[in-house]
Amino acid sequence: MALTVKRPNGTQDIVPNEVNKWHTVESVVKDTAEQFGFREIRIPTFEETGLFVRSVGDTTDVVQKEMYTVSSAGEKTYTLRPEGTAGTIRAIIENGILNEGLPQKVYYTLSCFRHEKAQKGRLREFHQFGCELLGSASPAADADAIALAHNVLDRLGLKNIRLNINSIGCPECRAKYREALKAYFEPHRSELCETCRERLDKNPMRLLDCKSKEDQEIAKDAPVITDYLCEECAAHFESVKKQLGIMGIDFVVNPKIVRGLDYYTRTVFEFISEDIGSQGTVCGGGRYDGLVEELGGKPTPALGFAMGLERILLTMEAQGCEFMEQRTCDLYLVSMGDAAAEKAVEITARLREEGFYVEYDLVGRGLKAQMKYADKIRAKYVIVIGDSELESGSAKLKNMATGEQSDISLGEALLDDFGAKYYEMMLDTDDDFRSFVEAFADNGQE
Ligand code: HAM
Repeated sequence: MALTVKRPNGTQDIVPNEVNKWHTVESVVKDTAEQFGFREIRIPTFEETGLFVRSVGDTTDVVQKEMYTVSSAGEKTYTLRPEGTAGTIRAIIENGILNEGLPQKVYYTLSCFRHEKAQKGRLREFHQFGCELLGSASPAADADAIALAHNVLDRLGLKNIRLNINSIGCPECRAKYREALKAYFEPHRSELCETCRERLDKNPMRLLDCKSKEDQEIAKDAPVITDYLCEECAAHFESVKKQLGIMGIDFVVNPKIVRGLDYYTRTVFEFISEDIGSQGTVCGGGRYDGLVEELGGKPTPALGFAMGLERILLTMEAQGCEFMEQRTCDLYLVSMGDAAAEKAVEITARLREEGFYVEYDLVGRGLKAQMKYADKIRAKYVIVIGDSELESGSAKLKNMATGEQSDISLGEALLDDFGAKYYEMMLDTDDDFRSFVEAFADNGQE
């Protein structure tokens, strides 16, 4: 019977043949974040709805149109996280982490949920790697976070990525800017989409982030925030740019970037991939100096960013970047008869204890079919065990790449024999392993 239940629109299955791509990205983001002094935090998949309304903002698309919210009688209303910052800040405040000293630097890799129109690079369930740095108002912190994101993209081998930065000022400069935007958009009120007509009164900056083509056309000549920055915000922005210059990180100042979430202040930035079409923003972030206090913590300046892992992977695939290899079987034990099968189980247990990846027949295949299977899973070595091998206590160890065969004991000496053969083969075939061994040997001589 055909399977009638299908994966929900806007979600993805990550199948075993593809999972190495995810492992590649996950290991690079973890290593790089930890090298920059960030520690991992893990938070719940859902939170009280009010958390997102207060932080992300009630005039944003995310809150107005995209949240997956569950409410059941007599209970609070909960929402699947549309992003990682709000929950992370909630968790940091709730667990008193700010009392452990400043700055606090955390990272996360998590799934997010937004009820958007699904297309390439825009999903309803997607994954973010994000970093949050709390307790520094210094422009050095902005530049350091941007450098971390830049470093991750670089280590993954991504090319053609543009960094756009902007400053959207503090609440004071924004008040003046809001008035200027209102004056600009008011004559166009009747041409705007319904949501934006409402936004014009409540939060005109959101108009700059509208997805409607008509509204984007009207917004083309709108005033830009950089003309309204107060002295301190302008000086902060200058300093961030200077530090990026010192670090050798190329950027473009794009005064049109306002970001789709309401908590930002001062620096905002986006990394954009030129190779994956319209949904090219692979990373977005910025400063949010008012959020910790807004959510009930002590006033604490903070900033961060998040990368969309699906978009990173799309770019890596489009650019032919390299991924980690899947682990392949070290040894497959082919057996004939019940006694040999028992021996295979015993050997497998011993070698697995030593860290080798070993498999044996679990489905009752004949000799030829077992050999074929060993080949299919790209086993590096095979040992065939039958009655005569059991009797002599020795068998042939076959190197599947070269076809070369050698004798191997099935008794006590098996582990040493196999270990020695395996080491030799790795030295011959694995460049990383050989360099590691050589470096180790050189160190020993010094
Ligand atoms: P965001 O710009 O909404 O920011 O999302 C960050 C990244 O997540 C985007 O640049 C994009 O790569 C990815 N992304 C967003 N929506 C989707 C989607 N529907 N499908 C696929 N990927 C998507 C935030 O979420 C902020 N919390 C970032 C931040 C952290 N700011 C400060 N700290």
